[in-house]
Amino acid sequence: MKKITKAVFPVAGMGSRFLPATKASPKEMMPVVDKPLIQYAVEEAVAAGITDMVFITGRNKRAIEDHFDMAYEMEAELEARGKHELLRLVQETVPSHINCIYIRQSEPLGLGHAVLCAAPVVGNEPFAVLLADDLIDADPPVLKQMVDAFDAHPYSLLGVQNVPPADTGAYGIVCIEPDSDGLQQVTAIVEKPAPEQAPSNLAVIGRYVLTPRIFHHLRRVQAGTGGEIQLTDAIAALLEEESVLAFPFHGIRYDCGAKIGYLKATIAYGRKHPEVGQAFTEFLASLNVGGRP
Ligand code: G1P
Repeated sequence: MKKITKAVFPVAGMGSRFLPATKASPKEMMPVVDKPLIQYAVEEAVAAGITDMVFITGRNKRAIEDHFDMAYEMEAELEARGKHELLRLVQETVPSHINCIYIRQSEPLGLGHAVLCAAPVVGNEPFAVLLADDLIDADPPVLKQMVDAFDAHPYSLLGVQNVPPADTGAYGIVCIEPDSDGLQQVTAIVEKPAPEQAPSNLAVIGRYVLTPRIFHHLRRVQAGTGGEIQLTDAIAALLEEESVLAFPFHGIRYDCGAKIGYLKATIAYGRKHPEVGQAFTEFLASLNVGGRP
C-alpha cells in the first residue's frame, strides 16, 4: 500500500451550535488560546507526514484559505517594526513544503458527500480524514499513531473512544471483534443510534484513515441519518468487502463542536500554554476551580 500523503478536512459545516460567533466566520477558525482549531488539525496532519491538505469548504469559509496563505501587508508591517517572533508565527501557519488544496462543497449534503468531493484530488490512494472539531491532545499526535498503525496493517482505521451510553446519538457507533492478530475488526457501524438501539458505546471520533475504495461506496449510498450522505453508511458498506479496524487511540479528546468541550479545551490548553500557562493556572486556583500551580 502507498504511504499516506493526503488529508481531507471537511470544513463546510455551518457551526450553528456556536451562533452568533459563527455567523460570519467559520467555526474552524475559533481559537483555543491563540490558534484556530483548523491549525491544530493541520499541525497534527503535518506531524503524521501528510503533505497535501485538502479542505472541503463552503460559503463563509474564506478565512480558512486566508489563514494558510501569505498575509503580505501584515508580514511587511511586522517586518518593518522588527517584530520577528510575531512574523514567524504569521508565516508558519503552514510549513512551506505543504500544499493546501481547496474544494468547494456547494450544498451541505453531509460528511460523506464532503469526503467524496475530495475524490478527484485523492485518487486511488489511502488518505486521512480529520474533523477539526475533535481537538485531541496526544503524544504522539493521534493521526501519527494511526498512520504508523496503517504502515503495519494497511486497512482502513477509525479513531474510537468509549462515550457515555446516553451520548450514542451524537456519534457513529461501532461493534468490534478482536481477530487472531489482536486487531480490532469493526463488524458493524451505525450513525447516531439512540441509546436503546446502540450496539455499544464505542464511538468514532473525528480521525479516519480510509482506503480509496470508500469513494466507490460514497457514490452509491443514499441519504441516511438527518437526510445526509453519511460517511458511516459508506464505511458500513466498505467493511462488507475489506477489513476496517477500530483504533482506540491514546489521548484526551475535546469535543470543540460543543460549547462545553470547547471551554474544557480552552482551560486545558490555557493551563499549559508557555506564555500564559502559569498566570492562568494561578487565576484558576484563585477561583478555586482546580487550577494547580
Ligand atoms: C460526525 C460523524 C460521526 C462521528 C462524529 C465524530 O458527526 O458523522 O459518525 O462519530 O463526526 O465527531 P458530526 O459530529 O459531524 O455530527
